[in-house]
Amino acid sequence: MKIDEYRKKGLNFAFGREGFRDGTYYLETPSSKEDARRKGAVLTGVLKKLKAGEANISLEKLPVKFRQSFLEGCLLADYSFSKYKKERDKEAVLYVKGAKGVPEAERIRDVVFFVRDIVNDAPDKVNPEGFSKIATSFKKVKVFVGDEGWLRENGFYGTLTVGRGSSVPPRVVIFRYKPEGARKKIVLVGKGVTFDSGGLDLKPPKYMKGMHMDMSGAAAVLGVARAVEAGFKFNAEIVGIMPLAENLPSATSYKPADVIEMANGKTVEVENTDAEGRLLLADALIYAEKENADVVIDLATLTGAAVVGLGELVAAMYSRDDGEADKMERASSETGELVWRMPLLKEYKEDLKSKRADIKNADYGRSGGSIMAALFLGEFINKDKWIHLDIAGPAMLSKSFYYMPEGGTGFGVRLLIQYLRGEK
Ligand code: BES
Ligand code: MN
Ligand code: ZN
Repeated sequence: MKIDEYRKKGLNFAFGREGFRDGTYYLETPSSKEDARRKGAVLTGVLKKLKAGEANISLEKLPVKFRQSFLEGCLLADYSFSKYKKERDKEAVLYVKGAKGVPEAERIRDVVFFVRDIVNDAPDKVNPEGFSKIATSFKKVKVFVGDEGWLRENGFYGTLTVGRGSSVPPRVVIFRYKPEGARKKIVLVGKGVTFDSGGLDLKPPKYMKGMHMDMSGAAAVLGVARAVEAGFKFNAEIVGIMPLAENLPSATSYKPADVIEMANGKTVEVENTDAEGRLLLADALIYAEKENADVVIDLATLTGAAVVGLGELVAAMYSRDDGEADKMERASSETGELVWRMPLLKEYKEDLKSKRADIKNADYGRSGGSIMAALFLGEFINKDKWIHLDIAGPAMLSKSFYYMPEGGTGFGVRLLIQYLRGEK
């Protein structure tokens, strides 16, 4: 597809009163940025169905404020994970030129596809080692990979414990970006469980399916580094922390009833080995706090309960700071990545009390699972300017939705970019 300012021959699209007239299909003027993105996605869908290699799209009548989003929608919808398919589905090859805003939309697409490709890839490819390899391919961002020795020295005891059951050792990837004159420092944390079988508390097959995508939070954070690589500029200093581990059952796995002493001195009773993500995140949040950042933001495919409560399209957001939560909500309404703020109800902390340790990692009462996980995390970070995004729903979709494909969606990376761009 060729998106151009001018019309040539072939399939013609333009904006105006909806309908087909004089060889041109007119699309209704979008009512919002998200509507523009979705209209772009629908158009791409039509072109793919028609197996049309090329189409002319006149953006003349499209209000300038919607251009960027429309182009993004067109491009983000043209995704499929076909790396391992010998016989690829024939698709409209999407290429755009001419129109203003195209390079920016293409950069966004490259970053989002980078994240989706990591999320969708096979768990034996993207294991802690494979993820680290991808992360060290950047040039503009400093990337550090911490091995088991580093994890021990730096108190990542939760990560080490979860990773113990696998023959591929856990790691942490940390990137640093510091533009000149930065006035704010923002730490991003992403859950990087490269495969979550549940561990000894093994998941049933139906629930294990898709658990190679349990590193979607880490992938979104790494996407910010990829964005810098693509030329995006931010004013704030950014640190990305991605603890990585495989959660597997084996003779060396951690067990229910194990007790872990975390780096902040708190002891955690393992009630369920499937509540592993919060153990990795706790390490990273303790570490993040020592960075003296202005804000800490974590993204994690943390609980099935978030999906039950909000469905697949919305991330659960938690924060003790109304201002930061508002900022994130504003970023969300710009990018169309939906978030809904949930309460960090301290009344529920009672249920995290352990008889054998300071706190337990799960409770067998089944209520409020996403809130319980967020409360657990809150025990490992004291600052109020902390945002936790439980992205278990939107990080991976069971069916496509406009420009969001089935499988890994890349959710969160555009949101982070938008949020970071708001920092002057
Ligand atoms: N990775 C899962 C959460 C998840 C579930 C993400 C479905 C995406 C889709 C997480 O590690 C997990 O297993 N959580 C448990 C916690 C429970 C044992 C307290 C859950 O949600 O069931
Ligand atoms: Mn789990
Ligand atoms: Zn998990």
